[in-house]
Amino acid sequence: MKPVTTPPKTYRVKSFGCQMNVYDGERMAELLAEKGITEAPEGEDADLVVLNTCHIREKAAEKIYSDIGRLTKGKTQKKAPMIAVAGCVAQAEGEEIMKRAPAVSMVVGPQAYHRLPDMLDRAVEGKRSTDTDMPAIAKFDILPQRKKRFPTAFLTVQEGCDKFCTYCVVPYTRGAEISRPFADLLTEANRLIERGAKEITLLGQNVNAWSGEDLKGHTIGLDGLIRELAKLPEIKRIRYTTSHPNDFTKGLVASHGEVEKLMPYLHLPVQSGSDRVLKAMNRNHTAESYLRVLEDVRKARPDIAFSGDFIVGFPGETEAEFEETLALVDEVRYAQAYSFKYSPRPGTPAATMDDQIPKKVMDERLQRLQERLNRDQHAFNQASVGKTCEVLIERKGKFDGQWLGKSPWLQSVWFEGDADIGDLVTVDLVDGGPNSLRGQMREIATA
Ligand code: SAH
Ligand code: SF4
Ligand code: F3S
Repeated sequence: MKPVTTPPKTYRVKSFGCQMNVYDGERMAELLAEKGITEAPEGEDADLVVLNTCHIREKAAEKIYSDIGRLTKGKTQKKAPMIAVAGCVAQAEGEEIMKRAPAVSMVVGPQAYHRLPDMLDRAVEGKRSTDTDMPAIAKFDILPQRKKRFPTAFLTVQEGCDKFCTYCVVPYTRGAEISRPFADLLTEANRLIERGAKEITLLGQNVNAWSGEDLKGHTIGLDGLIRELAKLPEIKRIRYTTSHPNDFTKGLVASHGEVEKLMPYLHLPVQSGSDRVLKAMNRNHTAESYLRVLEDVRKARPDIAFSGDFIVGFPGETEAEFEETLALVDEVRYAQAYSFKYSPRPGTPAATMDDQIPKKVMDERLQRLQERLNRDQHAFNQASVGKTCEVLIERKGKFDGQWLGKSPWLQSVWFEGDADIGDLVTVDLVDGGPNSLRGQMREIATA
């Protein structure tokens, strides 16, 4: 099918990746809204579909072709949507997508999507275009203000990665590490406040590699940025993700103990508990140095909850090495975690290493790892029962008068009461399941 050229009235952005990918998806939606295009109501077909892709694992590219097929299959030229492919697969395989999928009008990379409106103008004229440039940070200068009101918000502060873990595509799809200037972040934080944000999550592929100059010209790191943002009275909660063990400064550790608004939750990926595997992964840290970071943070903030990422079945991983990962999990007792089967990514060094692990072995290891991680998550939730904490309401629950929000430890908490979205509510935690907790509302802490 030829690409659609009718000017779209409605759009839908589908994001498949990490929080930065979701952030990019929100920003693309705002660009389209600026052009007078409205978001398609839930359940209705959109005139323009943006597939905001992720390249991190599995056959992401194959999935895109089947999505495109589904969007166009059996539809006439009039009924089919205009299609844009964005995100990290667009960056990695843009040319290929253009060749293989004639129904696609636009391919735009994660550093170039501020140009989407121009590409759209061209698409309406029947001209297909690809833009996978990586101009340093330019997109942030051009993006429109955000309008949607919401109590929690993402703020991308750092992009790209220079770490080159041997399994990972991010350094190729997102480019080199870049920090956004402090003044720009302050401006954006104030805009987020205007649209109702009470909690800000600072985002970056290596968010703790952020550095900049404060308004007085002093060099600051992520901890300095957190301290400055904590001065904004409307901001009640600050989080950050994802950090890397090697960029964890003393100042950042200290800020966990000193900045009350910094929530007691730390997502710090480790990937493996085996030093041999960590070396082959080019992680440049050991299991012990990782554990030391956690220990330091826990000293600064005793109620901290930890989360991590794991890869099982990295090339050459032996049963004994995998068991070292299990031992690390037993030691840390994560409150939450993400675990994945190793997926060979084109162009990465690990993809051509000897000793790729059979799928069956990976399946079995993943299951064993997840059993423990689920056990610990459930135990953490149960250990929270009896505590009183603040919950920031993010949405309505299933039933009338029921609310859903997050505890300081990023657990989902639901409860009933006279409150509203955006309220910070004092809640007694009364029941802890595997994935969420039930609370009893005491009072609204702040309106
Ligand atoms: N920059 C972050 C997140 C990177 S991507 C960090 O370094 O922590 C998120 C997670 O995906 C990684 O932490 C890793 O656990 C997983 N991942 C990345 N590449 C992978 C691959 N090729 N196969 C399986 N999991 C992978
Ligand atoms: Fe990928 Fe490693 Fe960079 Fe994380 S630190 S984005 S896993 S290369
Ligand atoms: Fe995926 Fe790109 Fe994020 S590959 S994980 S969307 S940086």
